[in-house]
Amino acid sequence: MKEANPSAEPIGQNLIKLISNLCFSVFVFSVLIFAVIAITYQPPDPWLESAPALTKLFTESENATFKNDNSILKTGEDLLLAPARAVSPANNPITEAVIEQTEEKIANSTPKSELGCDELGQVVNCSDPRVVIAVEKFNLRVFKSIVFLEYQTPVKGSKSNECDVAWRFRNKKEKSWRKYRDFRRFKIGIEENCTYKVVQAGAWHSGINARRPRSRISNATRRGSGNNAKLAPPVRDEEINDTIPSLGSAMNFNKGRYLYYSRGGDYCKGMNHYLWSFLCGLGEAMYLNRTFVMDLSICLAAPYNPSNKDEEGKDFRYYFDFEHLKEVASIVEEGEFLTGWKKWNRSHKRKLPIRKAVSHKVTPMQLKKDKNTIIWRQFDAPEPENYWYRVCEGQAAKYIQRPWHALWKSKRLMNIVSGISGRMDWDFDAVHVVRGEKAQNKELWPHLDSDTTPDALVAKLKGMIQPWRNLYVATNEPFYNYFDKLRSQYKVHLLDDYKELWGNTSEWYNETTGLNNGRPVEFDGYMRVAVDTEVLYRAKTRVETFYNLTKDCKDGINTC
Ligand SMILES: *[C@@H]1O[C@H](CO)[C@@H](O)[C@H](O)[C@H]1NC(C)=O
Ligand SMILES: *[C@@H]1O[C@H](CO)[C@@H](O)[C@H](O)[C@H]1NC(C)=O
Ligand SMILES: *[C@@H]1O[C@H](CO)[C@@H](O)[C@H](O)[C@H]1NC(C)=O
Ligand SMILES: *[C@@H]1O[C@H](CO)[C@@H](O)[C@H](O)[C@H]1NC(C)=O
Ligand SMILES: *[C@@H]1O[C@H](CO)[C@@H](O)[C@H](O)[C@H]1NC(C)=O
Ligand SMILES: *[C@@H]1O[C@H](CO)[C@@H](O)[C@H](O)[C@H]1NC(C)=O
Ligand SMILES: *[C@@H]1O[C@H](CO)[C@@H](O)[C@H](O)[C@H]1NC(C)=O
Ligand SMILES: *[C@@H]1O[C@H](CO)[C@@H](O)[C@H](O)[C@H]1NC(C)=O
Ligand SMILES: *[C@@H]1O[C@H](CO)[C@@H](O)[C@H](O)[C@H]1NC(C)=O
Ligand SMILES: *[C@@H]1O[C@H](CO)[C@@H](O)[C@H](O)[C@H]1NC(C)=O
Repeated sequence: MKEANPSAEPIGQNLIKLISNLCFSVFVFSVLIFAVIAITYQPPDPWLESAPALTKLFTESENATFKNDNSILKTGEDLLLAPARAVSPANNPITEAVIEQTEEKIANSTPKSELGCDELGQVVNCSDPRVVIAVEKFNLRVFKSIVFLEYQTPVKGSKSNECDVAWRFRNKKEKSWRKYRDFRRFKIGIEENCTYKVVQAGAWHSGINARRPRSRISNATRRGSGNNAKLAPPVRDEEINDTIPSLGSAMNFNKGRYLYYSRGGDYCKGMNHYLWSFLCGLGEAMYLNRTFVMDLSICLAAPYNPSNKDEEGKDFRYYFDFEHLKEVASIVEEGEFLTGWKKWNRSHKRKLPIRKAVSHKVTPMQLKKDKNTIIWRQFDAPEPENYWYRVCEGQAAKYIQRPWHALWKSKRLMNIVSGISGRMDWDFDAVHVVRGEKAQNKELWPHLDSDTTPDALVAKLKGMIQPWRNLYVATNEPFYNYFDKLRSQYKVHLLDDYKELWGNTSEWYNETTGLNNGRPVEFDGYMRVAVDTEVLYRAKTRVETFYNLTKDCKDGINTC
């Protein structure tokens, strides 16, 4: 505790007392949310100032709390009001007012005589701007939880009165600028007063003719794709650009100022531990105004792997949005950095100035004035002295803010979330059923098991969710048929019902394989949790396990 301010000591202890009286879980998961909120609104924040107490709790509670139980970890895009990336019409929502303006324009530019019903005839002209307006109005009325951003000109469906329409959208629950894509088939009818109207709307991704054609696709394939979306080859999400930026010329390598963290004791710990540490390093780099050298290779801890072993070589980009990170933070990928450095070494006699920091006790404040090209933090001490996040403890916590806003979930995972909620037309309720290790531990969670039996679920949900609603069950219960009893009352949906969204014909599979040098990527436990909880989060009515289904506390007996 050499680095701690002596007067901060009682505050730290009081805090520990206070916290142990509070609910543990609310704490741990709120830490993340508090951090985000604190950074956005910048209130005086006791949590950020007492990093020693906080991180102690963070690690101590790891065993109890971070069990693989589908707990929600919110990231920047859910919480911040992120400004649109670029001011462009494509980022403006299509509202009633926008539609009316377009309608007026059409009315003014079209001679009255051409508006006759005869002109509209039996064959619907999909590129008639009045068709897309009918669809826009329909969508606004039906999909209330969606912000519509831009429509493509509709194209002909499989019949003369069908049009396939593609658009970009965002769920109102997501605050980022990211856009998702849907294309549906609409049956268009004509009103007595000669306006178009939507008679019938197809399901999620049914309008396959409106899907943007692949750049090089043979005529045979295109014809072959016909009406069957399943046979169609996957479309890449062309909006994702998470390529690793290159450092450019080695001659300029010395112009940069880098902060390089060697691998520490955090490697192969839980994902929340990883994030807590990674954001500490990135926060320090921001504080020092340096480029953070980033290792994109993650070790995923055993509980999230079907193999139940730690697995190395997972790519950061499987889980998080590297494109967004590149845009908001100065980073360089470790391999690029080392190559650049090596090239410099080969072509220059002069050594690059380096400052090595061998202990986390060297504070960021001490490094603030350092002009060396590279600051190299090494973490060779025994655990727990070798955790990255220890750099941000003590006094440093007053200077370094973890940049939670830089961290978004992978758009590829979010495309799966959109796929699942889109197939339910965003009209679903959800229940979070935590079972697994917690349900087996009768000491800490005495009622959880009995409160989440199929019969108990049926009885409890009856009062909360209308019969025959779409019910999405987010759960860590591995037995698929466990929820069968609910099927007598609800249309039950489980994550595994959507396997084809990450199966070997999916867009996700195609893209992640591309990131992984052509080797298939496993859809692992962390991805499952991320998708499951994001779908849960988009439900109209949400029933939680703790405090809705059971009176047990989230983090064990007497913690709430
Ligand atoms: C957490 O679990 C690890 C091993 O599983 C153990 O070594 C450690 O002491 C535990 N920590 C706490 C606070 O219980
Ligand atoms: C369909 O409408 C578009 C736009 O109004 C027009 O340019 C096109 O000629 C029409 N096609 C047919 C076959 O009428
Ligand atoms: C045409 O009729 C429909 C209902 O039949 C109505 O909603 C719509 O406003 C009418 N459009 C015009 C331009 O009068
Ligand atoms: C595809 O069809 C177009 C006309 O529909 C034709 O001009 C083109 O040559 C065809 N391409 C191939 C590769 O067959
Ligand atoms: C992707 O982003 C990088 C910058 O990070 C840029 O240099 C590159 O041109 C982009 N690629 C595409 C296909 O847009
Ligand atoms: C941060 O570094 C960049 C170049 O590395 C420099 O242009 C900028 O002025 C620095 N900002 C501060 C606040 O030191
Ligand atoms: C570059 O040279 C320095 C000093 O000779 C050495 O410490 C460093 O490891 C070298 N860097 C690489 C990437 O080889
Ligand atoms: C995809 O998976 C299915 C079943 O898992 C398998 O039968 C099929 O051969 C796989 N296809 C490819 C191209 O790997
Ligand atoms: C992804 O799909 C494209 C087009 O079908 C194909 O060219 C590419 O090889 C696929 N990539 C992988 C890794 O399967
Ligand atoms: C779940 O519990 C919370 C807090 O007690 C309550 O606000 C919420 O309405 C409950 N949800 C349902 C669906 O009853």
